[in-house]
Order: sequence, then C-alpha cells, then structure tokens
Amino acid sequence: MDTKPIIFSGIQPSGDLTLGSYIGAIKNWVELAEDYNCYYCIVDMHAITARQVPAELRKRTVDQLAQYIACGLDPQKNTIFIQSHVPAHAELGWILNCYTMYGELSRMTQFKDKSAKNADNINAGLFDYPVLMAADILLYQADLVPVGDDQRQHVELTRDIAQRFNGVYGDVFKIPQTFNPKVGARIMSLSTPENKMSKSDKDPNGCIYIMQKPEDIMRSFKRAVTDSETCVRYDTVNKKGISNLMQIYSVATGKTFEQIENEFVGKGYGDFKTAVGESVVEMLRPIREEATRLMSDKAYLEGIYKEGAERAAYAANKTLRKVQKKVGFVPRG
Ligand code: TRP
Repeated sequence: MDTKPIIFSGIQPSGDLTLGSYIGAIKNWVELAEDYNCYYCIVDMHAITARQVPAELRKRTVDQLAQYIACGLDPQKNTIFIQSHVPAHAELGWILNCYTMYGELSRMTQFKDKSAKNADNINAGLFDYPVLMAADILLYQADLVPVGDDQRQHVELTRDIAQRFNGVYGDVFKIPQTFNPKVGARIMSLSTPENKMSKSDKDPNGCIYIMQKPEDIMRSFKRAVTDSETCVRYDTVNKKGISNLMQIYSVATGKTFEQIENEFVGKGYGDFKTAVGESVVEMLRPIREEATRLMSDKAYLEGIYKEGAERAAYAANKTLRKVQKKVGFVPRG
C-alpha cells in the first residue's frame, strides 16, 4: 500500500511558465516525487472564470504539460492531469457548494480583487472558484498543498469546509495544510523588486519566461532595477533588486550568497547583471529545448494526460463515492 503523504497542487493554464514559478515552485516539486504521492492538476475549469479564447486555452493547457515535464516533473512518478478530464471535480464541487456559506465566499480577498478588476464579468464561477478548489484538494485526501501566499485563504476555507462536512458525517476528508516552499524561493520582478515576478507585470522586462530567447532574457537582466550603491551585497530591506538577482544567481549556479559577494567585489552592477543573465540562459536552455521538442509531440502528450486522468479519477472517485453515500444519493448500482 502507498502510505506516502499526498501532495496536491493546481496550476492555471495561463501561458508560458515564468522563471519565478520555475524557481519558486516547480524546481522544488521535482524533488518531492520520491517522498510524496504528488498530484498536479492543470485547472482549465478554473481558467474559464475569466473569458478565454478557446483555441488558446487548449494550446496553453497542453503546452503547460510539456513545460512541466521539461522542467523535470516525471509523469511516471507524479500524476499530472487536466482538471476537466476528471468529472469528479465538478461533482464534488457541487456537493461542497451546499456546505459552503455565501458569507464565507464573500470574504475571499481574491474574489474581491478579481471582481474589482473585471467589473464587467463577475460571474458565479468566479465567486464559486474556491469551492471548486476545495473539491480539487479534498478529492485526493491531500495532506499538503503547495501554494503561494495569495492562495492561503483558499486553503483555509478548504479546511473549514472539510471540517464542517466531517463534523456532520464523520471522517470523510483529510484536513489539508499549506506547504511552505523553501525559504527564499520567492522571486521578485526585475523591474519592481518589491513585487513578486508575475505575468501581469506592466513592464515586460520585469518577468522572465522559461521559453524566452536568450537575447530577450539578457536584455531584461541588463535592465534590471538595482540601487544607487555599487556593491553586490545581500540585504532584502535596502537592496531588494540586488538581493533578488543574487537569489536567482544562487539557484542558477549553486553558489552561496557569500561566494557571490566575493566574486563581485570591485566589479560594477553591469558585470553582475550580465553574469546573472548568462547563468539563467544556461539553466533554461535544456528546459526550453526539451519543452519545444515535447510540445510538437502531440501523441506523447496525449498519452500522458490520458494516463494521468485515469490515475487521478481512480483516486478521486473513491472519495466521491463515499461523499455521495454520506449525503444520501442512491448508489448507481
Ligand atoms: N487557485 C490556484 C491559483 O490560482 C490554482 C488552483 C486550483 C489550486 N485548484 C487548486 C492550487 C488546488 C492548489 C490546490 O494559483
């Protein structure tokens, strides 16, 4: 029997992966496969809470799968699948709706932020988004959910829903916890280092993508915002830009902060930024090449997501059947 703790995370198919999510998330996930039973779900059903161009959503969903595999996530050791391929998510989502309060959903800060930004499309799916997310997590009896700070409130709500349900029907759901990625794995924007690196950065140089061409990566690093000193020193209060670059360089080269400080004594920021850019180009080169190769191998990718959905559905249906029975649905026989 598989007794490893279970990890579940969901990823929006919202475009090419960023350097921030590679360093902050996926790179760490690769190592988790030995000690945990990991499920990674590409959440296309969550994606349609904002209007999508269908052909683009389809392409991004499959490209994202290719990019995850290229980053080292082994589809044999991890279950990687597409949310809409496992109907149990929608089915449990509905049931959990009936155990979630209107007031709870109204308090979700992401709902408030997103509805303020998209006042013309405040659809019920956007409001209900956290319940589908709770269904994602609870279906797999996940112990740990690796997410960024912006998703913590949703995991809290998941716990509340699970506890409420268990309170009525007994121990049906495992109560999940958020999983803290390694310290310092939060990569900031190159142009506004106070903010997390994000696809929605107003300055295109702020965000690096794993599929970007080397010359574009170099340009963004050369324009990275620093400070008025000339000293490469780790100080996340006064030198946010430099510290962020040191963090990136450290991940790309394996060097410690002290080694990096020594390497650049007496050199200018120009040299440092070039070195960081080059190290990132080299780190991403094999990933980009492999992702490009995989993205054109449709048959291989289809095999992966079919098998992923089968494995996921097997685990999910066990929980779903139990829940359906508890709430009083007639078994289908
Ligand atoms: N809401 C998450 C985000 O936008 C994505 C997500 C969907 C998720 N379902 C999940 C994350 C389940 C963790 C677990 O980032």
